Amino acid sequence: MPLVSMRQLLDEAAKGGYGVGAFNVNDMEQIQAIMGAAKETNSPVIIQASRGARAFAQDKYLFHLILAAAELNPEIPIAMHQDHGNSFETCKSAIELGYTSVMMDGSLKEDGKTPASFEENVAVTKRVVEFAHERGVTVEGEIGVLGGVEDGHGAGGTGLEHVTDPDQAVEFAELTGVDALAIAIGTSHGAYKFTKKPDGSVLKMDVLIAIHKRLPNTHLVMHGSSSVPKDLQDVINKYGGKLKETWGVPVEEIQLGIRNGVRKINVDTDNRLAMTGAIRKVLWEQPEKFDPRDYMKPAREAMQKVVAQRMTQFGQAGHAGDYKAVSIVEIAKGYKDGSLKTKPLVAAK
Ligand code: G3H
Ligand code: 13P
Ligand code: ZN
Repeated sequence: MPLVSMRQLLDEAAKGGYGVGAFNVNDMEQIQAIMGAAKETNSPVIIQASRGARAFAQDKYLFHLILAAAELNPEIPIAMHQDHGNSFETCKSAIELGYTSVMMDGSLKEDGKTPASFEENVAVTKRVVEFAHERGVTVEGEIGVLGGVEDGHGAGGTGLEHVTDPDQAVEFAELTGVDALAIAIGTSHGAYKFTKKPDGSVLKMDVLIAIHKRLPNTHLVMHGSSSVPKDLQDVINKYGGKLKETWGVPVEEIQLGIRNGVRKINVDTDNRLAMTGAIRKVLWEQPEKFDPRDYMKPAREAMQKVVAQRMTQFGQAGHAGDYKAVSIVEIAKGYKDGSLKTKPLVAAK
């Protein structure tokens, strides 16, 4: 199957009432781990690359690895997504490379650190939507600001400083025409999300539910959704690592989100933890080893296990064969004739 539009993938997820994990990649092994899990669970997938990943791997290497994944797995719908685009130019370059979806994260200024004004966010996101939709490419926007900093990207903080205002979310969706909307409900990027076990009141699920009621046709996105499982932390610390005690987003909260309009769930940290733990274990137990295959193979297997588990928990498992890819050219026509226009149904407050 050719790469599919993320819009198609999320529309199908909405029809089926499930969520789709969006997993970050930087190299071949991570792509193989995701595809292995997708094959194992028969899942559609979103593979995403941050600016840091694109710089690390180089655009052409990364993109051609994804094309290899599509060629080798024709039965799996794959959307290729730019994670946290910081400017029109970043999104444009991803679209020109062949990505089928981009995130314009206009919640922060181009420096990727300073919160932007609502007006700035609307202006840059709208510009990306116009450029992307003409080419059949999906756009995710963000309103509200997440916590944490990843690879220099992020405003820092706990994630509760800039929780999304539902009125602004509705206005933003109407003004920009985004296909998917990332909202801030108290999650942060990275491993250090919560200092104690979240009890269900920590995440602002009421805000999420309020936004979904008023924007039932806009696919909601949860960033910072790693669960940071204790067993993965323990492996790292057992073999020489020094992670401080920490808690992530409970899977049950994500599942509550999925029942209330969340269609895309971003996970990176859990996979980083799984790979790092597996590599540490090999090098700790067998310090004589120096062939990268001796530790990259277990690392890839550890990531595949986590991804397959999330695919099952998010409900995408079993859905790879539900539909055929609609070409990006057809999708572009749909945006042009208005049939794919996201119509925020602003239900009564
Ligand atoms: O949004 C954060 C993702 O985990 C990607 O992180 O920018 O370090 O590649 P990165
Ligand atoms: P985690 O750090 O929780 O995995 O979040 C990843 C993410 O949101 C990527 O955009
Ligand atoms: Zn994110």
